[in-house]
Amino acid sequence: MPPYAEDPQDVSAPKGVAERGGDADPGETTVLGEAADPSGRGADPEARREAFGWTEDAALRRAEAGLVRTLRPRAATSDLLDLASNDYLGLTHRAEITEAAAEAARRWGAGSTGSRLVTGTTRLHTRLEHELAEFCGFEAALVFSSGYTANLAVLTALSARDGLIVSDAGNHASIVDGCRLSRAETAVVPHAEPAAVAKTLAARPGRRALVVSDSVFSVDGDKAPLAGLAAACREHAAGLVVDDAHGFGVLGDGGRGAVHEAGLAGDPDVVATLTLSKSLGSQGGAVLGPARVIEHLVNAARTFIFDTGLAPAAAGGALASLRLIAAEPALAARARTVASTLHRLLTDAGLAAVRPDAAVVSVRAPGPSEALRWAADCRELGLGVGCFRPPSVPDGVSRLRLTARADLTDAEIERAVATIVRTAPACAVGTGASTTAAARTTV
Ligand SMILES: Cc1ncc(COP(=O)(O)O)c(C=O)c1O
Repeated sequence: MPPYAEDPQDVSAPKGVAERGGDADPGETTVLGEAADPSGRGADPEARREAFGWTEDAALRRAEAGLVRTLRPRAATSDLLDLASNDYLGLTHRAEITEAAAEAARRWGAGSTGSRLVTGTTRLHTRLEHELAEFCGFEAALVFSSGYTANLAVLTALSARDGLIVSDAGNHASIVDGCRLSRAETAVVPHAEPAAVAKTLAARPGRRALVVSDSVFSVDGDKAPLAGLAAACREHAAGLVVDDAHGFGVLGDGGRGAVHEAGLAGDPDVVATLTLSKSLGSQGGAVLGPARVIEHLVNAARTFIFDTGLAPAAAGGALASLRLIAAEPALAARARTVASTLHRLLTDAGLAAVRPDAAVVSVRAPGPSEALRWAADCRELGLGVGCFRPPSVPDGVSRLRLTARADLTDAEIERAVATIVRTAPACAVGTGASTTAAARTTV
């Protein structure tokens, strides 16, 4: 089993946690008796260091495997050509979006001040939900503080403890975690194989079942077979959950997303999750689906009930972006064109770039340390690219990950490709047809 999908059943939530309510109930406390030294500061320093001493071994192992992650400072403005962000439509710095975010903060405050069930729902949140649902073709929507919490909400609140979740092996970490939290049986099926989904559902009849898949997979940028997944679900009365984080804003008519493109938006057995942090250039997440499902989430989704509502600035920025996308449908098409141009130029140069279905372009690297060095060399030359290494990659194959932003000019695309080719490790060139996924490299 691939490392990112390792046995989601292993980690079950602590008994009793699901029934407890956040700050409403502090939970059980065990009193161990009067301590002479309540803070424990007088304890043997060696023993105190031991508690987290194991992290040094973990750091050593990471270093040996070339898997150390570090935080870099980021300047507010820079000359770096950015192909690492998820700002697919180039909206995050557009003046009308930042101004809408600032205006929302001035009007409603810097934070939401609590769960929307406690402090109320602003008109801004209601508008955003209404317009998101309408744009993407769903009955209703509910916004969350992140796409991560939106996925946790759907998978925990719509599953049953004695139910089944069928999850694609390439799904995002937030889906893997949602499956773990749900305590339902999770069957991880081979990547993008509706027949495997149907077989898994058929083998466990009579259970409340959900099938969950990314619409566009974040590592290789390939699209899920949504029509086949929907057919498998319908054969077995399962609900289909699609994480459209990478499809929304890029795929479908004017960026209405992969679920809309597949003709599944608004269907009574389909739910989509989104992030507001990629194509909308803001922050937050959303669930789109039938009104009765959304109403259920308000009542049962712990990451909605016990989480502070989406910040007004994020809601205001996302709403302005949504309106801008609706007014400029060519943005989505431009992101897709940039992606195919990047892919064509990279494969022409002999690199193993995976043919993009949306705006993610993935280029295979010989190994994790080569990938890291490659990304660092690009940065030295003024180009920011993402670097995916285990355990973030499904198959242990490291990659550079490029974002095809709609606002990149043709000259910037050429400069980016020239930099990637110039800095490529020798063994990365000429590998265009040598890997499984590279079978997809020819247009
Ligand atoms: C496929 C997918 N789902 C969910 C998320 C989480 O979204 P957010 O960053 O808004 O929490 C991401 C973010 O990287 C993602 O790529």
